[in-house]
Amino acid sequence: MLEVVILAAGQGTRMKSKLPKVLHPVCGRSMLGYSVLRAQEMGAQKIVVVTGHGADKVEEAFAASGVVFARQDQQLGTAHAFKQAVPHLSGNSDVLVLYGDTPLIRLETLQNMHRSHETAQAGMTVLTADLHDATGYGRIVRGPDGAVERIVEEKAASPEEKKIREFNSGVYLFNPRALELVEQIGNSNAANEYYLTDILELYRQEGARVEGFKIQDASELSGSNDRVQLAEADLIMRRRINEQHMRSGVTLVDPQSTYIEDTVRIGRDSLIEPGAVLKGKTVLGEDVRVGAYSVIEDSVVQDGVTIKSHTVLEGAEVHSGADAGPFARLRPGAVLEKDVHVGNFVEVKNARLLEGAKAGHLSYLGDATVGREVNVGAGTITANYNGIGKFKTVIGDGAFIGSNSVLVAPVEVGAGAMIAAGSVVTQDVPEGSLGVARGRQRNIDDYARRFWEQHHEKVSQKHAVLHAWLQAQSAKNS
Ligand code: UD1
Ligand code: CA
Repeated sequence: MLEVVILAAGQGTRMKSKLPKVLHPVCGRSMLGYSVLRAQEMGAQKIVVVTGHGADKVEEAFAASGVVFARQDQQLGTAHAFKQAVPHLSGNSDVLVLYGDTPLIRLETLQNMHRSHETAQAGMTVLTADLHDATGYGRIVRGPDGAVERIVEEKAASPEEKKIREFNSGVYLFNPRALELVEQIGNSNAANEYYLTDILELYRQEGARVEGFKIQDASELSGSNDRVQLAEADLIMRRRINEQHMRSGVTLVDPQSTYIEDTVRIGRDSLIEPGAVLKGKTVLGEDVRVGAYSVIEDSVVQDGVTIKSHTVLEGAEVHSGADAGPFARLRPGAVLEKDVHVGNFVEVKNARLLEGAKAGHLSYLGDATVGREVNVGAGTITANYNGIGKFKTVIGDGAFIGSNSVLVAPVEVGAGAMIAAGSVVTQDVPEGSLGVARGRQRNIDDYARRFWEQHHEKVSQKHAVLHAWLQAQSAKNS
């Protein structure tokens, strides 16, 4: 049994942000989100988040996550923060303490620490690592048997203690005694804060063992206090995420320039070209190709789809065998069914393109249904908006929409119908009919030649080819 307390009430002034520090994202997930996720992965029976600065925003962001909140109205120190969580704890399980701003701690680290805590039957286990310079952190003072004797805060450390490289990460495992011991902690120290580290001495007075669980990679324990550290955490996290995808069978042509958020899933044998950005709830199937500099957010892309370079997907759905881009834009509600082709400079919004439909070039398809194997000619626009409301265009199976047509919604084109190029279609076109809605062509004989002839002088100066043609014409006619 394990319960988790996440301390997240601190201010985070150095972020210089309206957003509470713990809500700042690292690879698409908020820092606090990682702590909550790790707690869930640990199988926590209960997760208590201690909130203070920006509590309303933090609690709103995690309202649906299954955690409970304990408010710490004044930030009087880490022990005081922990105390706020105590009423929510059962008192009969171990308690893991995490911070809301250390997103890089690995699940394996916490699992190993928990195992070691249980094996040693420790009252308390502290997660530690070595740093070349641990300035600012509490230092770990170990006894001859390796147990932790004291944690000395920077402000109280002697010159000798300041040389200690092993530091306190602030992550602890406690047995249930912590709930009562924390009540005995006072604030008579240099900072007048209630130090959670003081609980160590209380455990030792009871004869309980205090273990230090030391890991090799100190970067796992680093918090992000400003935007520079946030970017560093992002970089470390990004490498990890990318490595994980590569190890599970995804080719990243250039992992350095590939940005994949923590929340994204990708199937085997997919290939991601340089500069791609994959965000949010995006799920890619197997054998998907994502072209260079494409951005895919909150979208579902099924097996075998090709997204060509510079394509942007947002809330879109692309079924097997379809392809989009280069330079296509699929906005929320865009659904490309099987074998659909969407080419360059085509924008699709809230529109379903049924199996085998094609829109190769320069189109806007909004609030529309495009039937099976429809050919949407270059430059076709569904005019879905009249300045007040949005209206729908329905194109039947197998229809052929000539280039540069405007379909003024609400309008319906029947199955197998044709639209003549350049039409402005304002009325429904019945099944199998041809809709022509454009001016008729009229050719005026010899008009152009006479015009050029009148401006002979200028033509000879400016247009060599035309000039030669004019001369040939007059030679023929004389
Ligand atoms: C604390 C430890 C120190 C350790 C360091 C690791 C104590 C006394 N010292 O330092 O040994 O090396 O963490 O980072 O515990 N918080 C609250 N409410 C408070 C105070 C803090 O929720 O009243 C939260 C903060 O939001 C933060 C975490 O607790 O997530 C740590 O607070 P911080 O002030 O950074 O730690 P220190 O007390 O300096
Ligand atoms: Ca502090």
